[in-house]
Amino acid sequence: PRPIYLSRHGESQYNVVHKVGGDSDLTQTGIMYAKQLGKYFIQELEGNRNIKMFTSTMKRALHTSNEVCELLGVEYYSLKALDEINPGICDGLTYQQIADKFPQDYEERKMNKLTYRYPRGESYLDVISRVEQIIFEIERSRLPVIVIAHQAILRCLYAYFHEHEVPEIPKLNIPLHQVIKLVPATYYCKETRIKIDA
Ligand code: F6P
Repeated sequence: PRPIYLSRHGESQYNVVHKVGGDSDLTQTGIMYAKQLGKYFIQELEGNRNIKMFTSTMKRALHTSNEVCELLGVEYYSLKALDEINPGICDGLTYQQIADKFPQDYEERKMNKLTYRYPRGESYLDVISRVEQIIFEIERSRLPVIVIAHQAILRCLYAYFHEHEVPEIPKLNIPLHQVIKLVPATYYCKETRIKIDA
């Protein structure tokens, strides 16, 4: 069975100031992560270029993927369906600023992160449905798959392969600077987490 590798993009400008949304680029640390990630894949794939790689259309994911692909000599598909959850009117705010500016929304999301939809944005349920098409694509692939995307997106993909209950999705732990390697077996998915120092 072919492995599926999941990684968030390297640390972004917004990550360090705890802002949600936006389309910020990587920090220097994030760029270092992307380069280390490329080196990890060179070793891990033992020079095999016969892989499928997917990323989003956001700067932080594209920059990470470009660094990886430059080292691996492969190409990627950039898909809008893999863009991070759209936080609508809360775009560019920190969680604290959301709590101050939109206290009711903040509470509602805390109460039900799965169904809460950011005004003019998305809910986790919205994200799950747009990510579904990519899941089929990944499942169909006979080649190893690399997905470089975002926290909410990877929660959905990860939950699918581990058969987590849908309400668990928004709570799953998908840290920065870590690769999650999944190897689907008949009744379960074997998981290895590889921390990569930036
Ligand atoms: O903070 C990084 C980030 O990817 C944001 O852009 C996004 O809004 C958030 O994580 C999603 O995580 P949560 O649903 O826990 O707020």
